[in-house]
Amino acid sequence: MGWEQMWRDLAPVGLAAVGGGYRREGFGTAERELQAWFLEEARNRGLEIEQDAIGNTVAWWRPDGATGRGVLTGSHLDSVPDGGAFDGPLGVVSAFAALDLIRENGTLPARPLGIAVFVEEEGSRFGLPCLGSRWAVGALDEGAATVLRDRAGTGLVDVLDQHGLGLAPSTLLDDVAVFVELHVEQGRELALLDAPVGVASGIWPHGRYRFDFTGQANHAGTTAMDERHDPMLTFAMTALAANKQARLGGQRATFGRVELEPGSTNAVPRQVRAWLDARAATEEALADLVDAVLRQGRERAARDGTVLELTTESHSGLVQFDPDLVQRVAARPTGRLPVLATQAGHDAGVLASVGIATAMLFVRNPTGISHAPEEFAETADALVGVETLAQTLLAMAGTHR
Ligand code: GLV
Ligand code: MN
Ligand code: MN
Repeated sequence: MGWEQMWRDLAPVGLAAVGGGYRREGFGTAERELQAWFLEEARNRGLEIEQDAIGNTVAWWRPDGATGRGVLTGSHLDSVPDGGAFDGPLGVVSAFAALDLIRENGTLPARPLGIAVFVEEEGSRFGLPCLGSRWAVGALDEGAATVLRDRAGTGLVDVLDQHGLGLAPSTLLDDVAVFVELHVEQGRELALLDAPVGVASGIWPHGRYRFDFTGQANHAGTTAMDERHDPMLTFAMTALAANKQARLGGQRATFGRVELEPGSTNAVPRQVRAWLDARAATEEALADLVDAVLRQGRERAARDGTVLELTTESHSGLVQFDPDLVQRVAARPTGRLPVLATQAGHDAGVLASVGIATAMLFVRNPTGISHAPEEFAETADALVGVETLAQTLLAMAGTHR
């Protein structure tokens, strides 16, 4: 089945009734439907399916004469709440299409080729980005996984159990030498360069930090303004400080999620809980950014009579893809592909961190918008991506003829 038909098949899955966004939460109904679709596409192609306990899946093509450790492509099928169609699925659909192209051309890779789907890449459900790939490479220990809970308070272990999954160690990637992830670009660099496809040089370090602002709940009418201990004010000022600090440093700081208690229009809140997503070009700059936001938040807390506590929920280290590999992937008979750094996290970064030779291809996104319904790639660009991916996989695997 061609790229366009696969894309049409996926289009309705998890589409929200209003707003045009996708709700493909990890281990939720839509994401499980996409997993079933993946398994069916793999079976239809006669691929061998391997799955680890947490639910990461690889569909292998091991043609005659293909030996040694495999070359993997693929991505993820979960989305952020009300996310776009392309972040994740583009890499999976393009992987099947690239495999089909290679087979149609009759080329035989010298190594097995695999298509991977990693679970809960966005970390939108359990708070930890790249949960599946972290588990697959052994970067997440069982104790840390066991305490993860979703917003409804359901534990990861219980959710896994409901799906016949669990936390046994993964050996899924033991026979993987190379991973090439194709992804929609999450900015406008390729559009500005007028290029359909680019190659990633690296990923900025980033993290998720929970800020707990605690004050004193009180009556909204009878409490004089200067007698309040209002954590909302401390939060509001901290959000402004984060934005200013990131602007000054050419970095990124976002409070994209806030919860408050008790959440009553006629009461000063008792607590505001807000999650900061911070990203910077170096580890030092990231640490300095978070420190500066925390310091300014605490200064304000002292004035408001509130308390601010910080919990680091995740950290994703700096990734520099192997420069030789980047140059090899970028080299094309038709001219070099542009090479760009990204501020977005990917399973590719996790696999690179354990020494798997890893590269990423980006497909132009004319809107430059991502994690939102406007995320987009033209079919023509996606097909250039498929061709580039097929060539890259064969270059990595070597060929028999
Ligand atoms: C994943 O898309 C991330 O960077 O948050
Ligand atoms: Mn993604
Ligand atoms: Mn994403």
